[in-house]
Amino acid sequence: MNNLPLFDKPQKITSQFDTHSDIVLYHGDVNDFVETLPDNSVKLIITSPPYNLGKEYEDRVSIEQYLAIQTQTIAKFDRILKPEGSICWQVGNFVEKGEVFPLDIYYYPIFKELGFFLRNRIVWHFGHGLHTKKRFSGRYETVLWFTKSNKYTFNLDLVRIPSKYPGKRHYKGPNKGKPSGNPKGKNPSDVWEILSQEWEECLWDIPNVKSNHPEKTIHPCQFPVELVERFVLALTNEDDWVFDPYSGVGSALIAAVKRGRRAMGSEQEGAYVSLAHERIQSFLDGTLRTRPLGKPVYKPTGKEKVSQRPQEWTQVTQSRLLEEQEKYE
Ligand SMILES: C[S@@+](CC[C@H](N)C(=O)[O-])C[C@H]1O[C@@H](n2cnc3c(N)ncnc32)[C@H](O)[C@@H]1O
Repeated sequence: MNNLPLFDKPQKITSQFDTHSDIVLYHGDVNDFVETLPDNSVKLIITSPPYNLGKEYEDRVSIEQYLAIQTQTIAKFDRILKPEGSICWQVGNFVEKGEVFPLDIYYYPIFKELGFFLRNRIVWHFGHGLHTKKRFSGRYETVLWFTKSNKYTFNLDLVRIPSKYPGKRHYKGPNKGKPSGNPKGKNPSDVWEILSQEWEECLWDIPNVKSNHPEKTIHPCQFPVELVERFVLALTNEDDWVFDPYSGVGSALIAAVKRGRRAMGSEQEGAYVSLAHERIQSFLDGTLRTRPLGKPVYKPTGKEKVSQRPQEWTQVTQSRLLEEQEKYE
């Protein structure tokens, strides 16, 4: 990963778009904000839209109504996106009466109809979350990465990760004996497991879980800065504009600014806009805590108390469970 750029001029946060500003935080509806943006100005639109789950910032409507509203907004993005630009749409499931509607399936035709090209469907996998009783517990969400054209920015070298077996060598052919990997690292693939246990626990909004992720705020479903950072590095260049249409507490903006890009966001809730303002300012002052990009996901050693079976569970031994399961084989 490349080093953080150091800004050589003070960064200004404005509340309206201005070609001279570096960071724009708009308090209001995304549709109004987009009208104020010039044609072909944004390199990356990255967001986690409302999922229509009835969270505190949204009114739950039918899935058809929800998608109709989203389609109208997404159609406005084509004009402002640069020809080499990308849209990254991060979604999970809409759930109604226990039935699951994976939102990326519904969003794909909307973008395709508008002429966008899908480059990856990235699976963002996490090891923790709510435990469901009538279906398997959900442990991933996805990010649909679309480009506006076939000529798009993709800086793979900036997001390569260390290879697991860098010492592997070709065992036959003209390169026999030579290292087979890339000295810059390997392609991070389309399955991303970049988060720590502490993040996952608070991301899923479990009541009374003491959140100890360094980035946690009052927002119920905040982006980890680290997730956006990888997209910012790969899909934009320094000074490009990155836009989060549903910017919440400003995580995507922080990721963009952290990597020397210009950042803008629109958010309807005043409390989130104020927090975003504070977080971006503390980032600029060097006091915001964020989880570093590429920090390994925490893996228990088995020695921690929480990794061991509670003594109260002696009646339900693992071997008894296996016996039960074998009856049905
Ligand atoms: C899933 S959250 C995004 C959180 C964000 N990624 C973060 O890290 O804080 C969706 C956000 O969209 C905002 N929102 C919903 N409808 C909006 C609209 N029409 N215009 C602007 N913001 C909207 C909500 O208030 C909410 O904060």
